[in-house]
Amino acid sequence: MTGKPGRNDPCWCGSGKKYKKCHEAFDEKLDGLRAKGLPVLSRSLLKTPEQIEKIKESCRINVAVLDYVAAHIGPGISTARIDEWVHQETVRHGGIPAPLNYNGFPKSVCTSIDHVVCHGIPSEKEILKEGDIINVDVSTIYNGYFSDSSRMFCIGEVSPEKRALVDTVRECVEIGLSKVQPWTPIGNMGHAVNMYAEEHGYKVVREIGGHGCGLEFHEDPWVSYTSEEGSGVIMVPGMVFTIEPMVNMGGAAIETDQEDGWTVRTKDRLPSAQWEIMVLVTENGHEVLCW
Ligand code: MF3
Ligand code: CO
Repeated sequence: MTGKPGRNDPCWCGSGKKYKKCHEAFDEKLDGLRAKGLPVLSRSLLKTPEQIEKIKESCRINVAVLDYVAAHIGPGISTARIDEWVHQETVRHGGIPAPLNYNGFPKSVCTSIDHVVCHGIPSEKEILKEGDIINVDVSTIYNGYFSDSSRMFCIGEVSPEKRALVDTVRECVEIGLSKVQPWTPIGNMGHAVNMYAEEHGYKVVREIGGHGCGLEFHEDPWVSYTSEEGSGVIMVPGMVFTIEPMVNMGGAAIETDQEDGWTVRTKDRLPSAQWEIMVLVTENGHEVLCW
């Protein structure tokens, strides 16, 4: 729905209020930004209160699945086992694992160990051992609504260098989150992430970023974590997107496995870490929907 209702007609957001008493001023603000040439998402990607409630139901499952993984992961566990848990727990809650068959992805979750940056494919042959760091990236479809978040897990004792990387990426996400404020450009968030990572001597992956999420798995905008201050779409209430920087201990360069077409590794084979949260832009700031 993109046309504007009459002033006395019900608002497009589903509140039941008259348009003039509800989102008319909001739409005028958006039109004002567009008239100034500022990039603003199309209204079809801004979530209504009703859609936000549905997205939150999906997010609750995503969080529960990751909590299950957190409670069971450890040395000796294969990544195929993690895939089984994710599938079983998602379905038990009435959801569908979004990665399964997504563009041909063969499993229900991405598991990315050490120098695997993202999109690692779970395997029987891959057994977690003490000292590994692993990203487990879970995405759920529930009732047609999407959620997406990932966490890092340190298996037993890990080296101080890996621990510092994992901790810093988490801080990057928090610092990026603090920049999620309505009516400001999304590039400020990515810029803050990049600055913090670089201050710690790390490099942020440039080619793979975050995304809008909720009505689809991956929606506009594409989200960079190496962006310039003042760049990118203006964040407005109702926007939902991920903060998911991939941060490398060595260089920023990555390569995709030519055989499986999915596994992304650092070129220098030094470790990489990532956390992913899904965020809603609100009237006064933001709300984290899943983590
Ligand atoms: N969950 C990933 C993301 O954060 C996407 C994975 S796509 C898959 O956007 F097919 F590999 F699952
Ligand atoms: Co994502």
